[in-house]
Amino acid sequence: MNGALRIFDNEATLFEAAADKFTALAGQSIAERGRFTVALAGGGTPKGLYQQLADAPYRERLDWSKVEWFWGDERPVGPEDPESNYRMAFESLLGPLGVDPARVHRIIGEHERPETAAVEYQKEIAHVFGVPFDGPPPALDFVLLGMGSDGHTASLFPFTQALNVRKKWVAANDVPQMTTRRYTLTSLAINVAACVMFLVTGPGKAKTLRDVLTGPPEPKRFPSQMIKPTAGELWWYVDRGAASLLE
Ligand code: 6PG
Repeated sequence: MNGALRIFDNEATLFEAAADKFTALAGQSIAERGRFTVALAGGGTPKGLYQQLADAPYRERLDWSKVEWFWGDERPVGPEDPESNYRMAFESLLGPLGVDPARVHRIIGEHERPETAAVEYQKEIAHVFGVPFDGPPPALDFVLLGMGSDGHTASLFPFTQALNVRKKWVAANDVPQMTTRRYTLTSLAINVAACVMFLVTGPGKAKTLRDVLTGPPEPKRFPSQMIKPTAGELWWYVDRGAASLLE
């Protein structure tokens, strides 16, 4: 199996453990390097973790002004849109914490030119890390991911173009199966991170989780299998429902 798996009785205990891990890593990174760089996940599952982090005792555990906030993916919408991953994270975490907007690096989902939006986000990441934007991707300290019941993660959907990207850190990805376009960090950028954590809950994801973790390698069909950090940690935090088909 790729990475360490932790199974929790319910979402509450899962989010508590994830909040403990997040704040422990962040505290260490801030102590050692003066900051913590994180890419947040969208969708519904992480909202409970974000609310937990914005609440006591976690909100007192960190100097949140030392955190640089990025996103693993975004929908083709603006920051006010109910579909916006930025908006969900802002309402459940960044707003309640009162974070400095200068440390918030959102993907411009509403951009009219998708390819330009992807390049600009790569340049934004490069700027924050102080590295050339056309070289290898820098290592985020922490990347939070979810997994769809089709095995996608971030916006790396099955059999889509972004799965074939070799050099880019960020891709504008057409998703014909959802007749939409998404913006996503590529597996290249995710796999250099110091720590990658999947949050997966609910029996609806049990079959896919079993196939992703114990099935034959089919990364085009199950893009979550493409997440294999080159030097970093990989954690699967799942609840009993999602783990119900794992031996
Ligand atoms: C998104 C996400 C996506 C999400 C999965 C799981 O923008 O939708 O980033 O990758 O993590 O679709 O979504 P749920 O947590 O809602 O099941």
